[in-house]
Amino acid sequence: MTGPESEGLQLRRAVCPGSFDPITNGHLDIIARASKLYDVVHVVVMINQSKQGLFTVDERIELIREVTAEYGNVEVEAYHGLLVDYCKERDIPAIVKGLRAVSDFDYELQMAQMNNGLSGVETLFVPTSPTYSFLSSSLVKEVAAWGGDVSHLVPPAVLSALTERLPKK
Ligand code: PNS
Repeated sequence: MTGPESEGLQLRRAVCPGSFDPITNGHLDIIARASKLYDVVHVVVMINQSKQGLFTVDERIELIREVTAEYGNVEVEAYHGLLVDYCKERDIPAIVKGLRAVSDFDYELQMAQMNNGLSGVETLFVPTSPTYSFLSSSLVKEVAAWGGDVSHLVPPAVLSALTERLPKK
């Protein structure tokens, strides 16, 4: 081991979880801001076997790696299980989540309270940039599927992947 951890210094780590099918500029905004606040940000694609995605988990990971590479302190992987177990296994004390609107808050608060009760892991909420407050992966897929322009809502690599994956209508 080299670096701060080899010298006994604890790196400050946080996790940004999600489905990321696919990653959008809204996700990226939160990840970029978390990467300035923490030494290492773990972006984790939570596997939900009951939900059929447009992209496979490996494809989502590949896209996230590509678009977060410039931050230099983002690690990307998938996890199947409870988010708090992921955090416990890696000794991560904090979850960072974006809040787009008040309507996000009820459900996010429930999850934050449940996660804290289960494990003591804290959730920190970052207000999404107003530019992206309406944005979701589902909306991006729907608009792109009908040929709408989403080039301002996703990174170029994701736009190419969407164009390739979605049938022309
Ligand atoms: O991008 P999404 O689909 O809004 O992300 C939701 C996600 C994956 C972050 C959330 O469903 C989650 O944390 N799932 C992992 C399973 C888990 O820990 N469930 C209990 C939550 S209190």
